[in-house]
Amino acid sequence: MTEKKLFKTADGTFSLALENHKETYHSRHGALQESRYVYIEKGLAHWKENNPKAIECRVFEMGFGTGLNALLAADFAHQYTFPVYFETVENDPLISEVHGQLGYTALFPLLGSEKDRRELLQNAWDRELQFSTYFNCFKKQQDYYQWESQSEFNLIFYDAFGAHAQSEMWEEEALQIAVAKLKKGGVWVSYCAKGSVRRALQSLGLEVERLPGPPGKREMLRATKL
Ligand SMILES: C[S@@+](CC[C@H](N)C(=O)[O-])C[C@H]1O[C@@H](n2cnc3c(N)ncnc32)[C@H](O)[C@@H]1O
Repeated sequence: MTEKKLFKTADGTFSLALENHKETYHSRHGALQESRYVYIEKGLAHWKENNPKAIECRVFEMGFGTGLNALLAADFAHQYTFPVYFETVENDPLISEVHGQLGYTALFPLLGSEKDRRELLQNAWDRELQFSTYFNCFKKQQDYYQWESQSEFNLIFYDAFGAHAQSEMWEEEALQIAVAKLKKGGVWVSYCAKGSVRRALQSLGLEVERLPGPPGKREMLRATKL
């Protein structure tokens, strides 16, 4: 387990830093702001808008981490009464004390009970959790390279640490694992804007868009499987 340090981001929400890698879980410009913009606005909301007849969205997240994206996806599902199945992998789960310090359950007071939100973030590993009518979650405590899933996905949240901390996760071979499980018309989204990632996604047969990034970042990537 790597040593993590709590810090406050510019929007007032907390995040974690890996001091040895000079890497953070979220942008210093705002953890909540960045996650909502990249993964919900440019990911889930975009996919739903383009698939108005869909009755469910199946999301795979690489890197559960703090669980902020899971809470945001659950919040979206509730807000739009639109079913979301959320599968994710994590090979270094956070301990309950750290979840407590991050305080994310308090950011979503209308999303079930405090106990339900804590269960979603801190427990519920390696089993399906029916969080509510609209949100089902399957958190797998395992390495992404070992991840296998019977089903395919409409949307991928690719949220690994940056390339300077884990370059292998941004190479074609790693990207291919998730892309192989993406349905035709499915969308891959990430805060990353690297040219080599864009080219790798293109060579995997995806159409890649460079979008304006969240505050503090010029660009981000979104890719659609043709
Ligand atoms: C940038 S953090 C973001 C996490 C999360 N999405 C969030 O909002 O907190 C990256 C996460 O991916 C996890 N991770 C990195 N490489 C992994 C791998 N090969 N398999 C599973 N999890 C991995 C890390 O432990 C970390 O929790």
